[in-house]
Amino acid sequence: MTGRRHTHSSLVGPAPQRCWYPVAAAADVGRSLQRIEALGQDIVLFRTLDGAVAALEDCCAHRPYPLSLGRLSADAVVCGLCGFEYGSTGHCLGVPTQDRIPAGASVRSFIVREQHGTVWLWFGERANQRPSALPKLGWLDATGWNTVSGARTVAANYLLLHESFADVTKIAVLAPDIAPYVLRTTPPPLDVVVTETTVSLERRYPPTQLPAWQAEALGVDDTALFVHEQQGHFRSPAVWVDHWDVVAADEAPSRLRFSHFVTPVDERTTRLGWWISRDFATDTNITSRRLIDMFTPYYNSLGAALERSQLLLDRRDRHEVNVSADVAALRVREIVRAMLSEEGLDRSAP
Ligand code: FES
Repeated sequence: MTGRRHTHSSLVGPAPQRCWYPVAAAADVGRSLQRIEALGQDIVLFRTLDGAVAALEDCCAHRPYPLSLGRLSADAVVCGLCGFEYGSTGHCLGVPTQDRIPAGASVRSFIVREQHGTVWLWFGERANQRPSALPKLGWLDATGWNTVSGARTVAANYLLLHESFADVTKIAVLAPDIAPYVLRTTPPPLDVVVTETTVSLERRYPPTQLPAWQAEALGVDDTALFVHEQQGHFRSPAVWVDHWDVVAADEAPSRLRFSHFVTPVDERTTRLGWWISRDFATDTNITSRRLIDMFTPYYNSLGAALERSQLLLDRRDRHEVNVSADVAALRVREIVRAMLSEEGLDRSAP
């Protein structure tokens, strides 16, 4: 489809560094040292006295010892082995045994933002780089929306997750119990729009009945017919968003947003955070509970399936076959490959 033959192993590789990645819930980061792993790096998070989040490489410059095992003293991290102190920018501020601070006594610090209740780190180098804009997902904070969420660690490469998000028709096969009726029909043609860094896909399904939970939440008869409008958006290697709107004649759409936060821990492990937002039945816990009860097992099944794929990828390689439903996934690969190439990390480059 793309003029380039792919093998299964082209799915496994590093993640681009010049990108914002979600690493922790903002509420979980406070006045203590919190160790995390992301993009193969050990990182320690904490809040300074003014409430800002700081993120440092979790390894002392003196000896290989985790700073997260030390303690906070005001805005400084004190190494727990022999007491070097580091400020929130990673520069060494003091050494217990001498007045002079040794040359090179600093650890890497990361650019941090807080958005949508989440701490995001920029993994690109600080020098000569302006971080790109953080993906905006307004429905996660806006009034008039209700959001439920969950998280799972998946023992698979982050691109396997994006590939699965890029084709919602898989849901009818993987999870027929929760797939809406419309996904059991032959999908209409897909419109795919590609920019330098994003992929968007769109489909409009003819009027079809709603699943029982949604008909109940909307207070309509489950034989009523609704147009279904589906969009998928690869916003970055860290974020995939699905829109799922249902529209009855002459009415405003009832909107669902599925936000997927994708954090590569290493090349074979990914942290997935999923957020399901709706702008209908926002004041009922029954709908929230239904969504959690449906989608927690779904994301667990998806994770388990991708882990099986990763196991096979690790054992064998072969040329793959692609179909029209794979077009968005292949575009995502091309964007990621271009990002990696720009950073000198594309292993498939000749
Ligand atoms: S290992 Fe951290 S100060 Fe020595």
